[in-house]
Amino acid sequence: MDAKALETEALSAIEGASSASELDEVRVRYLGRKSELKQALRAVRDRETGQALNAAREAIERAVEERQGDLDRAELDRRLTEEIVDVTLPGDRPERGRLHPITQVWRAVEDAFLGLGYHVRYDREVETTEYNFDKLEFPPWHPARSPRATFFLNGDVVLRTETSPSQIRELEEDEPPTYMVSIGRCYRRDTIDATHYPIFHQFEGLAVDRGLTLADLKGTLLHVMRALYGEDRAVRFRTHYFPFTEPSIEPDVSCGICGGKGCRTCRYSGWLEMGGAGMVDPAVLRNCGLDPEEWSGFAFGCGLERVAQLRHNIPDIRVLWENDLRVLRQF
Ligand code: PHE
Repeated sequence: MDAKALETEALSAIEGASSASELDEVRVRYLGRKSELKQALRAVRDRETGQALNAAREAIERAVEERQGDLDRAELDRRLTEEIVDVTLPGDRPERGRLHPITQVWRAVEDAFLGLGYHVRYDREVETTEYNFDKLEFPPWHPARSPRATFFLNGDVVLRTETSPSQIRELEEDEPPTYMVSIGRCYRRDTIDATHYPIFHQFEGLAVDRGLTLADLKGTLLHVMRALYGEDRAVRFRTHYFPFTEPSIEPDVSCGICGGKGCRTCRYSGWLEMGGAGMVDPAVLRNCGLDPEEWSGFAFGCGLERVAQLRHNIPDIRVLWENDLRVLRQF
């Protein structure tokens, strides 16, 4: 066989192959096990013929390899020009989550108090009866001390029923002047209904300084209520009783739905109850090692759920715990 002629024929076939599969066919035809060349190589008897055939084989192999490289590069070029990614196109926006309404209120409360120069603290949810009741001057017969009202973990450890124990912890840890707000979860053995849930949140403000009066409490609550509900709100006080404040009051904020004229939400009174407050009882100050002749202060407590409900007109407290996204996406 004419090795040179075979080589020429093969090289032009390789040159003519315009795709990887065509090239593969050509390779099989000229270099495959059953190809003319391989058969001839197997039949070789003399050195000269062997050398000529091997030279042709090498030349063809090299040409296939080169052609493969050319085709690969051409394919890459094609893809680079055809499959252009336009990086200036807008991307797929990741869906943004949102904060739970309680978290939103939590942060709004912190903002309002930080603006007044208060510091924020978070205290333990598992409390001793000493801090939850005794040092707050709860009398021994107070109904909140009953296991029917409060979750007892054992005889003198409870899930805190309010954030008021923070008053004691703050005053014991740091000398006045004190301006702090404590925020967090509280627990009571309430039956679940539209306005009660056994887990809830409170924020608790405490100010102790020289010469603080009920007027300072009123101004502070007015600032916070306006921060939470809007500048047109008013605040009023009703007398009340708490074991750890004297005098004690319940603050009301003017109804935002009717502007104070009276509607269903405010039960036609024009006012909404906002929690509890009062001047820190001298006995509580003494329990924390402070002289009530030198120091005076005020405290107030309010539920975050209530704030969230009023801000967003949420009629039923239970939806705040169900995590139904159809509800939560609205806020
Ligand atoms: N701890 C009271 C409650 O949960 C509220 C309160 C706080 C009252 C601070 C007075 C002072 O009802």
